[in-house]
Amino acid sequence: IDAAVSDAINAVLAWAEANKGNNLPALAASAAALVVAAVFWTWFSSASATTDATAPPMVKYSIPFLGNTIEYGIDPVKFMIKCQKIYGDTYTFLMLGRKMTVCLGADGNNFMFNVKIKDASAEGAYETLTVPVFGSEVVYDVPNPIFMEQKKFVKDSLSTAAFKAYVPIISGEVKGYLSSLFANVKGEQEIEIETFEAMSELTIRTASHCLMGKEIRDGFNTGKVTKLYHDLDAGFAPINVFFRWLPLPSYFARDNANREMTNFFKSIIKKRRANNTETLDVLNGLMKAEYKDGSRPSDDAISHLMIALLLGGQHTSSTTSSWMLFELARRPEVIADLLKEQSMVLTGKPDTPAHLLPELTLESLKQLTLMDCVMKETLRLHAPIHTIMRLVENDVRHKDFVIPKGHFICAAPQVSHLNETRFPKAERFDPVRHVGSDEGSGEWTINGVDIAQKSAKSLFLPFGAGRHRCIGEQFAFIQNKTIIALFIREFSHRLSVDAKTGKEVFPVPDYTSLIAVPKAPRNLMVKRRSVVA
Ligand code: HEM
Repeated sequence: IDAAVSDAINAVLAWAEANKGNNLPALAASAAALVVAAVFWTWFSSASATTDATAPPMVKYSIPFLGNTIEYGIDPVKFMIKCQKIYGDTYTFLMLGRKMTVCLGADGNNFMFNVKIKDASAEGAYETLTVPVFGSEVVYDVPNPIFMEQKKFVKDSLSTAAFKAYVPIISGEVKGYLSSLFANVKGEQEIEIETFEAMSELTIRTASHCLMGKEIRDGFNTGKVTKLYHDLDAGFAPINVFFRWLPLPSYFARDNANREMTNFFKSIIKKRRANNTETLDVLNGLMKAEYKDGSRPSDDAISHLMIALLLGGQHTSSTTSSWMLFELARRPEVIADLLKEQSMVLTGKPDTPAHLLPELTLESLKQLTLMDCVMKETLRLHAPIHTIMRLVENDVRHKDFVIPKGHFICAAPQVSHLNETRFPKAERFDPVRHVGSDEGSGEWTINGVDIAQKSAKSLFLPFGAGRHRCIGEQFAFIQNKTIIALFIREFSHRLSVDAKTGKEVFPVPDYTSLIAVPKAPRNLMVKRRSVVA
């Protein structure tokens, strides 16, 4: 039944997409798709209400098709924890007609992150969303072994030599941006900043400069590339999870942005080839990459991988640095310790004034272990990707259950991160709990199956595990540690205060976005530190 329903919906949507040049038939087709979907799913939901002893328990719901969508959408973490108390570590809920089987606990994580490709795929879960944004020939548009090779190309480009070169680049970008933010601010005057916007700007400047090169970074000085980026990013709205194409302005803008961004990258590739340019960015690495069969990624594929990296690392990183600043805003004593740590590592003395501290290097950055712990603790409490999904391709067994083909299986790192046994007083921000632990920051290697599998049986997985594990982790640490280290050197900050209630504002997560970014209002009060002579 499931396959028939999906086929019907996909056939109508494919027809709509084929007609997208012409709005009227496409609109009619999309409307038809919605009607077909609703009718089929209503029938399917009632037909499948019979109890299957081997299937995971089903979370109660009253409205067919809609199921538990609203409760999950408002606060997925609260919803999943509530259901865990009622149904245990494995249960299924209904979201817009999709059966989502949540697998919790260390065993659930191990199962979901290491599930065999033949049983469940990331492509099935994410293809609709990602392929139009990233483009063809990469990531979930290709068979998984090809994508694994593409991940290796990127991983190989992110060498120690590259990271060494990135630290001064990131430092330069951070200093440049922060001084532009304070260009018209006198002395120690306090200003209010929109934290997430500021961190997003810093993330895009630093990531594009390091990973893609100066040409792309300079492109972000022009409104054109920034607009293309935003149109692509808007293709990651929740509606895009369900509909690959609809005749809406955002879909047209997304497709156009993919074309133009691809052409922009291709023109840079062409120029670099003509000039034999050698750089330490990932673009350079991809231009030299070779698949095991001796073939090379096409210029389209290289450009699309660049787009994937730009978007894959943007909200995850900018939300992390934002939450780091919010958590630190109410803990001046931790900021004092972080400054002391920088002073010790960089000058061998605990009290060198912040403005006299030398430049950061890769080596010194690695020694900032308290900063590491602050970032890990932030990721524990604010994991950017709260739910990770795969589409079940064949009935698959987990514990005493058989999860049927057509279900989505979900891991929920944020739920694991709040496990009271593993993290006593789990709601408390306590960076010191990570001292001496390398859990959550595992080495990823393309052939390192054992490492990946071991690390999946864990309750701390902000970067995922297994074959889909993050390849941007090291870069994210370098990027965010540098941003925060330089920010606290130059500025002191505190939470803003609500004018009506007089209370400090610590934002809640915004779950309407696919990444758990801080919800507005998300401002901080910031002022320059006084310079002690
Ligand atoms: C995969 C988190 C930064 C590129 C993942 C996954 C997680 C994650 C949880 C696993 C997804 C899954 O299993 O479906 C994060 C966090 C970041 C971060 C918390 C920052 C704090 C970055 C950056 C880049 C990046 C900076 C690019 C430079 C990727 C890629 C994958 C991935 C290419 C592989 C997807 C796959 O194999 O299906 N990330 N990420 N990430 N991430 Fe990151």
